[in-house]
Amino acid sequence: MQAITRRLGHQSLQPATSISSLKSVYPLSDYYNGADHRRFGTTSIATPGTGHLVRKGTGGRSSVSGIIATVFGTTGFLGRYVVQQLAKMGSQVLVPFRGCEDDPRHLKLMGDLGQIVPMKFNPRDDNTIKATMAKANVVINLIGREYETRNYSFEDVNHFMAERIAGIAKEHGGIMRFIQISCLGASSSSPSRVFSTKAAAEEAVLRELPWATIMRPAAMIGTEDRLLNKWAQFVKKFNFFPLFGDGSTRIQPVYVVDVAAAVTAALKDDGTSMGKIYELGGPDIFTVHELAELMYDTIREYPHYVKVPFPVAKAVAMPREILLKKVPFPLPRPGLFNLDEINAYTSDTIVSDNALTFQDLGIVPHKLKGYPTEYLIWYRKGGPKFGSTVSERINPEAWP
Ligand SMILES: NC(=O)c1ccc[n+]([C@@H]2O[C@H](COP(=O)([O-])OP(=O)(O)OC[C@H]3O[C@@H](n4cnc5c(N)ncnc54)[C@H](OP(=O)(O)O)[C@@H]3O)[C@@H](O)[C@H]2O)c1
Repeated sequence: MQAITRRLGHQSLQPATSISSLKSVYPLSDYYNGADHRRFGTTSIATPGTGHLVRKGTGGRSSVSGIIATVFGTTGFLGRYVVQQLAKMGSQVLVPFRGCEDDPRHLKLMGDLGQIVPMKFNPRDDNTIKATMAKANVVINLIGREYETRNYSFEDVNHFMAERIAGIAKEHGGIMRFIQISCLGASSSSPSRVFSTKAAAEEAVLRELPWATIMRPAAMIGTEDRLLNKWAQFVKKFNFFPLFGDGSTRIQPVYVVDVAAAVTAALKDDGTSMGKIYELGGPDIFTVHELAELMYDTIREYPHYVKVPFPVAKAVAMPREILLKKVPFPLPRPGLFNLDEINAYTSDTIVSDNALTFQDLGIVPHKLKGYPTEYLIWYRKGGPKFGSTVSERINPEAWP
């Protein structure tokens, strides 16, 4: 049936009426392998706006969810969790990548044999984007970057690429669901260019596909994150933590696994998430200072803070931005002193009062205690086995 689903692609997503009718269309080898088994019955998929995307199947890794998803940006942090959750429910995931063949290698193990399909693409070549989407019925765009490079500006990565992918999905005609990952705080008036370009991307995607789902995750926490890992690396190296402003900016970090769960929950619903914007923040609001305390507590270092006024922080971050396009070689990635992030910290980034949230997708987000932050124990001076681990000290009853 998998082979048949793949064959059908976007051309015909109606349930097959009978196996005998398929026999006339598809060669024996395609339908014979278990296709007529009741367990692998129809995988009918709704047209935009109606019905369930996932109707049948056992729901496990070896079943057929009916989803054939092209997920852009899978080689990043969130990507691995999205691919894992899609593959776990028996979806086929097409993985466009632009780097070397090894970039998506870790993803291949997440699904059954042949279910995770890496495909080389060039983000500036429409034909390669079309090729990665040709057989898909779902598109998820995770592409984004929090710093500029010589080749790609914020507008290129966060806005134009999303617009181009949405345009191609529209042209495709058989894409049933489109999920665009934006950022909590996305606004055209934000001093952060990531936030303003993400807002422009949302607008562009909704213009092309008004039924697309937009997800705005807050800063994400998890083993490979670029928030607490970056902070911990900085304090291990310099023995202090710079509090931009006075560290009172409020943020609402979220566990990356919950964000991936929100993506799959939106795909599994009956279409209610289509055309909606979700703000995905964690259960607790922290000031930057409080979150740094949590980080210090977990890595068991004595906290040392230095308050860095915003103008000073911006002055430290500025040289990279000035030199970026002037020097004939690539510059290193910005660390903690990333001008755009410093701009983002000038105002609170929390879920707005009337926004749709995890609750509307039936998800209870994890608290940032215990397991979600336990990866930080690797930064302990005595090694990860120094003292008890965090999860040993947390009562499992306290989990949501
Ligand atoms: N991390 C957070 O805390 C956070 C918070 C809110 C929202 N978000 C958004 O969530 C999404 C996923 O975040 P993430 O942390 O997983 O990001 P990430 O780790 O930086 O991964 C970004 C992905 O986008 C791809 N990408 C970047 N620039 C590209 C370009 N010029 N052409 C083609 N592909 C490009 C990367 O591919 P390569 O591997 O080839 O570079 C990678 O697969 C992003 O849209 C981000 O803006 C993230």
